[in-house]
Amino acid sequence: MKKILVIHGPNLDLLGRREPKIYGKVSLEKINQELKVLAKKAKIAITIVQSNHEGEIVDIIGDSRNKFDCLIINPAAYTHTSVAIRDAIAASGIKTIEVHLSNIYAREEFRQTSLSAPVCVGQISGFGAQSYSLAFAAAQSLIAAKKK
Ligand code: DQA
Repeated sequence: MKKILVIHGPNLDLLGRREPKIYGKVSLEKINQELKVLAKKAKIAITIVQSNHEGEIVDIIGDSRNKFDCLIINPAAYTHTSVAIRDAIAASGIKTIEVHLSNIYAREEFRQTSLSAPVCVGQISGFGAQSYSLAFAAAQSLIAAKKK
């Protein structure tokens, strides 16, 4: 069975309550439920984690080497600051999709740079909670392409 790892970065545990005009009203729990439904339908095993800690995220990515076929990550604020998470993604060798609920390119200047996107296959940004289902579809395509 193919395996996808989803990592939610800092403050995403507050989704639904956190700045709903920017991030929407859908909770992280709901997003995770939806991802689990999609995974079940696709017969893909899914592991979902959330962490507010940079080092913990680096450890999780490091441990995922050779264990997952695809990584979906919303590094949240670390997107714009973390060389460590970028390096962990690059070192993991796992095909990675970066996700954002908001369109980071339409926001403050400091959010318009992603340190991690260049080491990902691609980025999905700006579709609210739907960014995650789009990322799941992208992950499925990457997994299918690998099988060929
Ligand atoms: C975010 C965008 C980041 O700039 C911000 O720090 C977040 C969430 C998004 O999903 O839109 O926490 O990654």
